Amino acid sequence: MTNLCFLFLLLLPHFNLVKSQLELNYYSKSCPKAEEIIREQVTQLYHKHGNTAVSWVRNLFHDCIVKSCDASLLLATVPNGVVSEQASGRSFGMRNFKYVNSIKSAIEEQCPLTVSCADIVALSARDGIVLLGGPSIEMKTGRKDSKESYANLVEDLIPNHNDSISSVLSRFQDIGIDVEATVALLGAHSVGRVHCINLVHRLYPTVDETLDPTHAEYLKRRCPTPNPDPKDVLYSRNDLKTPMIIDNNYYKNILQHKGLLTVDEELATDPRTAPYVRKMANDNQYFNQQFSRAILLLSENNPLTGDQGQIRKDCRYLNTN
Ligand code: HEM
Ligand SMILES: *[C@@H]1O[C@H](CO)[C@@H](O)[C@H](O)[C@H]1NC(C)=O
Repeated sequence: MTNLCFLFLLLLPHFNLVKSQLELNYYSKSCPKAEEIIREQVTQLYHKHGNTAVSWVRNLFHDCIVKSCDASLLLATVPNGVVSEQASGRSFGMRNFKYVNSIKSAIEEQCPLTVSCADIVALSARDGIVLLGGPSIEMKTGRKDSKESYANLVEDLIPNHNDSISSVLSRFQDIGIDVEATVALLGAHSVGRVHCINLVHRLYPTVDETLDPTHAEYLKRRCPTPNPDPKDVLYSRNDLKTPMIIDNNYYKNILQHKGLLTVDEELATDPRTAPYVRKMANDNQYFNQQFSRAILLLSENNPLTGDQGQIRKDCRYLNTN
Protein backbone atom coordinates (compact mmCIF):
# COMPACT_ATOMS: atom_id res chain seq x y z
CA MET A 1 0.00 0.00 0.00
CA THR A 2 2.75 2.43 0.99
CA ASN A 3 4.51 1.42 -2.21
CA LEU A 4 1.47 2.30 -4.25
CA CYS A 5 1.25 5.69 -2.60
CA PHE A 6 4.91 6.24 -3.35
CA LEU A 7 4.38 5.27 -6.98
CA PHE A 8 1.47 7.67 -7.20
CA LEU A 9 3.56 10.51 -5.82
CA LEU A 10 6.27 9.70 -8.33
CA LEU A 11 3.80 9.87 -11.20
CA LEU A 12 2.06 13.01 -10.00
CA PRO A 13 4.31 15.49 -11.75
CA HIS A 14 3.76 13.61 -15.00
CA PHE A 15 0.01 14.07 -14.76
CA ASN A 16 0.71 17.76 -14.62
CA LEU A 17 2.72 17.50 -17.82
CA VAL A 18 -0.23 15.95 -19.62
CA LYS A 19 -2.14 19.18 -19.13
CA SER A 20 0.04 20.85 -21.70
CA GLN A 21 0.71 24.52 -21.95
CA LEU A 22 2.89 26.82 -23.92
CA GLU A 23 6.47 26.92 -22.71
CA LEU A 24 9.68 28.76 -23.38
CA ASN A 25 11.91 26.90 -25.87
CA TYR A 26 9.30 24.25 -26.53
CA TYR A 27 11.38 23.00 -29.49
CA SER A 28 14.70 22.84 -27.60
CA LYS A 29 14.86 19.06 -27.97
CA SER A 30 12.74 18.37 -31.07
CA CYS A 31 14.18 21.16 -33.23
CA PRO A 32 16.82 23.13 -31.35
CA LYS A 33 17.37 25.57 -34.22
CA ALA A 34 13.69 26.33 -34.82
CA GLU A 35 13.71 29.85 -33.43
CA GLU A 36 17.02 30.65 -35.09
CA ILE A 37 15.80 29.44 -38.50
CA ILE A 38 12.66 31.54 -38.22
CA ARG A 39 14.62 34.62 -37.17
CA GLU A 40 17.01 34.14 -40.08
CA GLN A 41 14.18 33.83 -42.59
CA VAL A 42 12.28 36.80 -41.18
CA THR A 43 15.46 38.88 -41.32
CA GLN A 44 16.26 37.90 -44.92
CA LEU A 45 12.70 38.64 -46.00
CA TYR A 46 12.78 41.98 -44.20
CA HIS A 47 15.89 42.99 -46.13
CA LYS A 48 14.18 42.07 -49.42
CA HIS A 49 10.71 43.41 -48.59
CA GLY A 50 10.59 45.48 -45.43
CA ASN A 51 6.83 45.33 -45.32
CA THR A 52 6.88 41.57 -44.69
CA ALA A 53 7.68 42.43 -41.05
CA VAL A 54 4.63 44.69 -40.96
CA SER A 55 2.51 41.83 -42.29
CA TRP A 56 3.70 39.43 -39.59
CA VAL A 57 2.46 41.84 -36.93
CA ARG A 58 -0.97 42.16 -38.52
CA ASN A 59 -1.10 38.38 -39.04
CA LEU A 60 -0.69 37.81 -35.31
CA PHE A 61 -3.69 40.05 -34.61
CA HIS A 62 -5.94 38.52 -37.26
CA ASP A 63 -4.99 34.95 -36.37
CA CYS A 64 -5.11 35.19 -32.58
CA ILE A 65 -8.29 37.22 -32.17
CA VAL A 66 -10.25 34.65 -34.18
CA LYS A 67 -10.69 31.90 -31.58
CA SER A 68 -7.03 31.09 -31.02
CA CYS A 69 -3.48 31.56 -32.29
CA ASP A 70 -3.76 28.49 -34.46
CA ALA A 71 -2.76 29.57 -37.98
CA SER A 72 -6.37 29.26 -39.13
CA LEU A 73 -5.67 32.54 -40.96
CA LEU A 74 -3.10 30.83 -43.19
CA LEU A 75 -5.46 28.22 -44.66
CA ALA A 76 -6.08 28.85 -48.36
CA THR A 77 -9.40 28.45 -50.12
CA VAL A 78 -9.74 24.99 -51.64
CA PRO A 79 -12.46 24.04 -54.17
CA ASN A 80 -15.32 22.31 -52.31
CA GLY A 81 -13.34 22.64 -49.10
CA VAL A 82 -11.83 25.27 -46.88
CA VAL A 83 -12.95 28.88 -47.31
CA SER A 84 -10.00 31.07 -46.37
CA GLU A 85 -10.27 33.71 -43.64
CA GLN A 86 -8.14 35.81 -45.99
CA ALA A 87 -11.16 36.16 -48.30
CA SER A 88 -13.08 38.19 -45.69
CA GLY A 89 -13.43 41.95 -46.12
CA ARG A 90 -11.72 42.24 -42.72
CA SER A 91 -8.53 40.92 -44.30
CA PHE A 92 -8.50 43.69 -46.91
CA GLY A 93 -4.96 44.81 -47.67
CA MET A 94 -3.26 41.82 -46.05
CA ARG A 95 -0.21 40.83 -48.03
CA ASN A 96 2.94 38.68 -48.12
CA PHE A 97 1.22 35.40 -47.25
CA LYS A 98 3.35 33.67 -49.90
CA TYR A 99 6.46 34.43 -47.88
CA VAL A 100 5.15 32.48 -44.89
CA ASN A 101 5.77 29.45 -47.09
CA SER A 102 9.45 30.36 -47.35
CA ILE A 103 9.75 30.37 -43.57
CA LYS A 104 7.86 27.11 -43.25
CA SER A 105 9.95 25.41 -46.00
CA ALA A 106 13.19 26.39 -44.29
CA ILE A 107 11.88 24.84 -41.07
CA GLU A 108 10.54 21.68 -42.74
CA GLU A 109 13.92 21.10 -44.36
CA GLN A 110 15.57 20.81 -40.93
CA CYS A 111 12.71 19.46 -38.81
CA PRO A 112 9.89 17.84 -40.78
CA LEU A 113 6.40 18.04 -39.21
CA THR A 114 7.73 19.38 -35.93
CA VAL A 115 7.16 23.14 -35.79
CA SER A 116 3.61 24.43 -36.08
CA CYS A 117 2.45 27.17 -38.43
CA ALA A 118 0.84 28.79 -35.37
CA ASP A 119 4.26 29.16 -33.74
CA ILE A 120 5.59 30.55 -37.02
CA VAL A 121 2.83 33.19 -36.93
CA ALA A 122 3.79 34.08 -33.34
CA LEU A 123 7.58 34.02 -33.71
CA SER A 124 7.61 35.84 -37.06
CA ALA A 125 5.59 38.64 -35.45
CA ARG A 126 7.99 38.70 -32.52
CA ASP A 127 11.03 38.88 -34.82
CA GLY A 128 9.33 41.37 -37.14
CA ILE A 129 8.68 43.69 -34.20
CA VAL A 130 12.42 43.77 -33.40
CA LEU A 131 13.33 44.54 -37.03
CA LEU A 132 10.80 47.37 -36.98
CA GLY A 133 12.54 48.89 -33.98
CA GLY A 134 10.09 47.62 -31.37
CA PRO A 135 10.88 45.70 -28.17
CA SER A 136 12.40 42.20 -27.87
CA ILE A 137 9.80 39.88 -26.44
CA GLU A 138 10.40 36.51 -24.81
CA MET A 139 7.69 34.32 -26.26
CA LYS A 140 6.48 30.83 -25.39
CA THR A 141 5.88 28.17 -28.03
CA GLY A 142 4.07 24.86 -28.40
CA ARG A 143 0.98 26.03 -30.27
CA LYS A 144 -0.72 23.57 -32.60
CA ASP A 145 -2.49 24.32 -35.90
CA SER A 146 -6.24 24.33 -36.33
CA LYS A 147 -8.01 21.66 -38.31
CA GLU A 148 -10.37 24.19 -39.82
CA SER A 149 -10.83 27.75 -41.02
CA TYR A 150 -13.18 30.07 -39.13
CA ALA A 151 -14.00 32.22 -42.15
CA ASN A 152 -17.63 32.38 -41.02
CA LEU A 153 -16.64 33.98 -37.68
CA VAL A 154 -14.16 36.57 -38.92
CA GLU A 155 -16.68 39.41 -39.32
CA ASP A 156 -17.99 38.88 -35.79
CA LEU A 157 -14.58 38.63 -34.18
CA ILE A 158 -12.28 41.13 -35.97
CA PRO A 159 -13.26 44.79 -35.52
CA ASN A 160 -14.14 46.71 -38.69
CA HIS A 161 -12.29 49.84 -39.87
CA ASN A 162 -15.14 52.07 -38.67
CA ASP A 163 -15.95 50.34 -35.35
CA SER A 164 -16.09 52.46 -32.22
CA ILE A 165 -13.57 52.34 -29.42
CA SER A 166 -16.27 50.90 -27.15
CA SER A 167 -16.81 47.88 -29.35
CA VAL A 168 -13.06 47.43 -29.80
CA LEU A 169 -12.44 47.57 -26.03
CA SER A 170 -15.11 45.00 -25.35
CA ARG A 171 -13.87 42.71 -28.11
CA PHE A 172 -10.36 42.74 -26.60
CA GLN A 173 -11.73 42.33 -23.10
CA ASP A 174 -13.48 39.15 -24.33
CA ILE A 175 -10.05 37.60 -24.84
CA GLY A 176 -8.56 38.90 -21.61
CA ILE A 177 -6.83 41.99 -22.97
CA ASP A 178 -7.28 44.97 -20.64
CA VAL A 179 -7.70 48.62 -21.65
CA GLU A 180 -4.03 49.56 -21.16
CA ALA A 181 -2.89 46.60 -23.28
CA THR A 182 -5.45 47.42 -25.97
CA VAL A 183 -4.10 50.97 -26.17
CA ALA A 184 -0.59 49.54 -26.54
CA LEU A 185 -1.60 47.06 -29.27
CA LEU A 186 -3.05 49.80 -31.42
CA GLY A 187 0.50 51.18 -31.46
CA ALA A 188 1.00 48.64 -34.27
CA HIS A 189 -0.72 51.29 -36.39
CA SER A 190 2.52 53.18 -36.20
CA VAL A 191 3.65 51.13 -39.23
CA GLY A 192 2.03 50.13 -42.51
CA ARG A 193 -0.76 51.66 -44.50
CA VAL A 194 -4.50 52.08 -44.81
CA HIS A 195 -6.18 51.83 -48.21
CA CYS A 196 -8.46 54.63 -49.30
CA ILE A 197 -11.44 52.31 -49.23
CA ASN A 198 -11.07 52.24 -45.43
CA LEU A 199 -10.60 56.01 -45.20
CA VAL A 200 -12.95 57.77 -47.57
CA HIS A 201 -15.92 57.67 -45.21
CA ARG A 202 -14.00 60.18 -43.06
CA LEU A 203 -13.34 62.47 -46.04
CA TYR A 204 -16.51 62.43 -48.18
CA PRO A 205 -19.08 63.85 -48.55
CA THR A 206 -17.85 66.01 -45.68
CA VAL A 207 -14.62 65.83 -43.75
CA ASP A 208 -14.97 64.21 -40.32
CA GLU A 209 -14.72 67.18 -37.98
CA THR A 210 -12.54 65.26 -35.55
CA LEU A 211 -9.81 64.97 -38.21
CA ASP A 212 -7.03 67.57 -38.28
CA PRO A 213 -7.92 69.81 -41.30
CA THR A 214 -4.40 69.91 -42.75
CA HIS A 215 -4.12 66.16 -42.47
CA ALA A 216 -7.56 65.82 -44.08
CA GLU A 217 -6.30 67.84 -47.05
CA TYR A 218 -3.31 65.55 -47.34
CA LEU A 219 -5.54 62.47 -47.16
CA LYS A 220 -7.82 63.88 -49.87
CA ARG A 221 -4.81 64.20 -52.13
CA ARG A 222 -3.95 60.56 -51.41
CA CYS A 223 -7.59 59.52 -51.88
CA PRO A 224 -9.07 61.90 -54.45
CA THR A 225 -12.46 60.21 -54.94
CA PRO A 226 -15.17 58.98 -52.59
CA ASN A 227 -15.47 55.63 -54.36
CA PRO A 228 -11.99 54.23 -54.92
CA ASP A 229 -11.78 51.11 -57.01
CA PRO A 230 -10.79 48.40 -54.49
CA LYS A 231 -8.31 47.12 -57.06
CA ASP A 232 -6.46 50.43 -57.17
CA VAL A 233 -3.58 50.49 -54.74
CA LEU A 234 -4.51 53.85 -53.24
CA TYR A 235 -3.47 54.26 -49.66
CA SER A 236 -1.95 56.47 -47.02
CA ARG A 237 0.79 55.49 -44.66
CA ASN A 238 -0.17 55.36 -41.00
CA ASP A 239 2.76 57.37 -39.73
CA LEU A 240 4.40 59.83 -42.09
CA LYS A 241 7.37 60.51 -39.83
CA THR A 242 8.56 56.99 -38.95
CA PRO A 243 6.44 54.80 -41.26
CA MET A 244 8.48 51.64 -40.71
CA ILE A 245 9.22 51.96 -36.98
CA ILE A 246 7.05 50.65 -34.18
CA ASP A 247 7.28 53.48 -31.70
CA ASN A 248 5.18 55.94 -29.73
CA ASN A 249 4.92 58.36 -32.64
CA TYR A 250 1.50 56.80 -33.27
CA TYR A 251 0.27 58.29 -29.98
CA LYS A 252 1.68 61.71 -30.83
CA ASN A 253 -0.13 61.54 -34.17
CA ILE A 254 -3.49 60.57 -32.75
CA LEU A 255 -3.26 63.30 -30.09
CA GLN A 256 -2.92 65.70 -33.04
CA HIS A 257 -6.01 64.09 -34.61
CA LYS A 258 -4.01 62.56 -37.43
CA GLY A 259 -5.20 59.01 -36.82
CA LEU A 260 -6.54 57.32 -39.93
CA LEU A 261 -9.20 55.00 -38.58
CA THR A 262 -12.17 55.80 -36.35
CA VAL A 263 -10.65 53.70 -33.59
CA ASP A 264 -7.33 55.60 -33.82
CA GLU A 265 -9.11 58.92 -33.37
CA GLU A 266 -11.36 57.72 -30.55
CA LEU A 267 -8.45 56.14 -28.70
CA ALA A 268 -7.00 59.61 -28.16
CA THR A 269 -10.24 61.15 -26.89
CA ASP A 270 -12.15 58.46 -25.00
CA PRO A 271 -11.76 59.03 -21.24
CA ARG A 272 -10.99 55.33 -20.67
CA THR A 273 -8.05 55.29 -23.08
CA ALA A 274 -6.81 58.90 -23.35
CA PRO A 275 -4.72 58.83 -20.14
CA TYR A 276 -2.74 55.83 -21.44
CA VAL A 277 -2.39 57.48 -24.86
CA ARG A 278 -0.87 60.58 -23.28
CA LYS A 279 1.47 58.50 -21.16
CA MET A 280 2.63 56.43 -24.14
CA ALA A 281 3.12 59.54 -26.26
CA ASN A 282 5.44 60.88 -23.57
CA ASP A 283 7.36 57.75 -22.78
CA ASN A 284 8.52 55.29 -25.44
CA GLN A 285 9.92 52.94 -22.82
CA TYR A 286 6.55 52.67 -21.11
CA PHE A 287 4.98 52.05 -24.53
CA ASN A 288 7.51 49.28 -25.26
CA GLN A 289 6.79 47.64 -21.90
CA GLN A 290 3.03 47.67 -22.42
CA PHE A 291 3.33 46.66 -26.08
CA SER A 292 5.41 43.60 -25.06
CA ARG A 293 2.92 42.63 -22.38
CA ALA A 294 0.01 43.08 -24.78
CA ILE A 295 1.63 41.10 -27.62
CA LEU A 296 2.13 38.23 -25.16
CA LEU A 297 -1.51 38.34 -24.07
CA LEU A 298 -2.62 38.32 -27.70
CA SER A 299 -0.18 35.57 -28.72
CA GLU A 300 -1.29 33.33 -25.87
CA ASN A 301 -4.99 33.59 -26.57
CA ASN A 302 -6.53 30.17 -26.18
CA PRO A 303 -3.86 28.11 -27.96
CA LEU A 304 -4.31 24.54 -29.11
CA THR A 305 -1.67 22.46 -27.32
CA GLY A 306 -0.64 18.84 -26.72
CA ASP A 307 -2.65 16.48 -28.89
CA GLN A 308 -5.15 19.13 -29.96
CA GLY A 309 -5.00 20.28 -33.58
CA GLN A 310 -2.15 19.24 -35.85
CA ILE A 311 1.19 20.40 -37.18
CA ARG A 312 0.54 21.27 -40.79
CA LYS A 313 3.12 20.28 -43.35
CA ASP A 314 2.10 23.22 -45.54
CA CYS A 315 0.57 26.15 -43.71
CA ARG A 316 -1.95 26.65 -46.52
CA TYR A 317 -3.50 23.20 -46.34
CA LEU A 318 -4.77 20.74 -43.76
CA ASN A 319 -2.74 17.55 -43.57
CA THR A 320 -4.34 14.84 -45.68
CA ASN A 321 -4.00 11.96 -43.25
C1 HEM B 1 -8.69 46.85 -32.85
C2 HEM B 1 -9.02 47.46 -33.87
C3 HEM B 1 -8.31 47.45 -35.17
C4 HEM B 1 -8.89 47.81 -36.33
C5 HEM B 1 -10.34 48.28 -36.55
C6 HEM B 1 -7.88 47.67 -37.35
C7 HEM B 1 -8.10 47.93 -38.69
C8 HEM B 1 -7.10 48.02 -39.63
C9 HEM B 1 -7.29 48.48 -40.98
C10 HEM B 1 -8.64 48.88 -41.58
C11 HEM B 1 -6.08 48.48 -41.57
C12 HEM B 1 -5.77 48.92 -43.01
C13 HEM B 1 -5.95 47.81 -44.00
C14 HEM B 1 -5.73 48.33 -45.39
O1 HEM B 1 -6.54 49.18 -45.81
O2 HEM B 1 -4.77 47.92 -46.06
C15 HEM B 1 -5.11 48.03 -40.61
C16 HEM B 1 -3.77 47.91 -40.85
C17 HEM B 1 -2.89 47.35 -39.97
N1 HEM B 1 -3.19 46.85 -38.73
FE1 HEM B 1 -4.92 47.09 -37.74
N2 HEM B 1 -6.72 47.22 -36.80
C18 HEM B 1 -6.92 47.07 -35.45
C19 HEM B 1 -6.00 46.61 -34.55
C20 HEM B 1 -4.75 46.14 -34.87
C21 HEM B 1 -3.88 45.43 -33.98
C22 HEM B 1 -4.21 45.05 -32.55
C23 HEM B 1 -2.73 45.16 -34.67
C24 HEM B 1 -1.50 44.43 -34.26
C25 HEM B 1 -1.10 44.26 -33.03
C26 HEM B 1 -2.89 45.73 -36.00
C27 HEM B 1 -1.92 45.74 -36.97
C28 HEM B 1 -2.04 46.35 -38.19
C29 HEM B 1 -0.93 46.55 -39.10
C30 HEM B 1 0.52 46.18 -38.88
C31 HEM B 1 -1.47 47.19 -40.23
C32 HEM B 1 -0.71 47.62 -41.51
C33 HEM B 1 -0.74 46.49 -42.50
C34 HEM B 1 0.02 46.74 -43.79
O3 HEM B 1 0.46 47.86 -44.07
O4 HEM B 1 0.18 45.77 -44.56
N3 HEM B 1 -4.14 46.30 -36.08
N4 HEM B 1 -5.77 47.75 -39.43
C1 LIG C 1 -18.86 50.56 -41.58
O1 LIG C 1 -18.42 50.30 -42.89
C2 LIG C 1 -19.12 49.25 -43.54
C3 LIG C 1 -18.45 49.03 -44.87
O2 LIG C 1 -17.13 48.58 -44.66
C4 LIG C 1 -20.60 49.64 -43.67
O3 LIG C 1 -21.32 48.60 -44.29
C5 LIG C 1 -21.18 49.94 -42.28
O4 LIG C 1 -22.50 50.41 -42.39
C6 LIG C 1 -20.31 50.96 -41.54
N1 LIG C 1 -20.76 51.04 -40.16
C7 LIG C 1 -20.91 52.17 -39.50
C8 LIG C 1 -21.23 52.04 -38.05
O5 LIG C 1 -20.77 53.26 -40.04
